[in-house]
Amino acid sequence: MSDQDQNLATVVNTTQGSYRVIVGRDVVDDLGVELRSTGLKGRAFLVADEVMFPNPIRRAQEALERGGYETHVLAIEIGEANKNLDTVQIVYDWLADLRAERTDIIVGMGGGVTGDLVGFVAATWLRGVAVVHVPTSLAAMVDSSIGGKTGVNLPKGKNLIGAFHQPKLVLQDVGHLGSLPARELSAGWAEAIKHGLILDSQLLDTFELLASQMTALEGEEPVAAIRRSVAIKGEIVSADEFETGDRRVLLNYGHTIGHAIEKVSGYGTYLHGEAVAIGMMAAAGIAEKLGMIDSELVDRQRNVLKSYDLPVRASGLDVDEIISATKSDKKTRGGAIRWVLLNGAGSATTRRDVPDDIVREAVLSILD
Ligand SMILES: NC(=O)c1ccc[n+]([C@@H]2O[C@H](COP(=O)([O-])OP(=O)(O)OC[C@H]3O[C@@H](n4cnc5c(N)ncnc54)[C@H](O)[C@@H]3O)[C@@H](O)[C@H]2O)c1
Ligand SMILES: [Zn+2]
Repeated sequence: MSDQDQNLATVVNTTQGSYRVIVGRDVVDDLGVELRSTGLKGRAFLVADEVMFPNPIRRAQEALERGGYETHVLAIEIGEANKNLDTVQIVYDWLADLRAERTDIIVGMGGGVTGDLVGFVAATWLRGVAVVHVPTSLAAMVDSSIGGKTGVNLPKGKNLIGAFHQPKLVLQDVGHLGSLPARELSAGWAEAIKHGLILDSQLLDTFELLASQMTALEGEEPVAAIRRSVAIKGEIVSADEFETGDRRVLLNYGHTIGHAIEKVSGYGTYLHGEAVAIGMMAAAGIAEKLGMIDSELVDRQRNVLKSYDLPVRASGLDVDEIISATKSDKKTRGGAIRWVLLNGAGSATTRRDVPDDIVREAVLSILD
């Protein structure tokens, strides 16, 4: 097997076409060649989070040029605070100045905010041009770069504007994680561990056994674990692209309470992955009280999350505020909450019939 085959984590199949997700070390050097093999011609417009300036951006640009692409680069500050239409406008203006055409390619390089925003620009520029993602945060690698959801925030709410726009290629260089702040890295692990908890007990075992290598990003194990986690996300998206079936919803494990905690504590207090870790503990509490799992699995989940420096409890929050926030979650409005619950290690299902008192008890049990 060649290196390139080994680095292929998954092929995602969607109504907008199929695409490869490549995960490895130093794979950013192959960006141009890999892009060339998708058959895309045209110029490459690289839009990057300026946090990757200068070396990683330069390296990506050189790789594109080696693939034969004329390349233009825009490095801008892209964060949750400016994930909005003003920043979209800046990118549109840049594309307009350079007369970007239908056949050109937009490459987004950065965390999930960059991927969502650049993906949205690509979805709408000239009614849609090709986009390639080079995610540089762990959360973006194992989650947001795969699946085609793009969007930006409005003052009235997060991700209110967006489109499904699948990329043509996703290239993940694990070396990029070397500069990611430790807290962001842990938050990314929360989503990867979630994939193990809901669908792959072997991956969960690996996360438990190899926590120190994983968190240190040492050796091949973290690369393999990210690749496996990416494959799980890819399989789910391929099976349930628009979240209309029973599969993609499983990715929301821990998110009902997690979103509520983010909202009630004020966005930014907890990173998304941290809130999801706490939310998964609340969900595990619900499943235990419903007799779906035993306390041993709840302990396992708690211990694995803690070994990745993730919080498993929240302090200073009000139980009723959290519960009322779960009811206004955009995914649950207008009906009973669809809880994603474990029914074993590496196995999850959904339930709508969870009694209020059980939810309350489970939420109370994760609050200090
Ligand atoms: N499209 C989807 O399916 C989907 C799914 C989940 C989340 N999201 C979105 O993803 C966003 C969160 O993504 P995120 O957690 O990656 O946040 P982010 O993009 O803000 O990145 C986190 C922080 O890390 C920095 N950073 C990124 N890569 C770095 C690197 N290699 N070295 C140093 N610093 C680096 C960023 O500048 C930022 O400060 C949210 O806006 C959320 O709505 C989208
Ligand atoms: Zn999430």
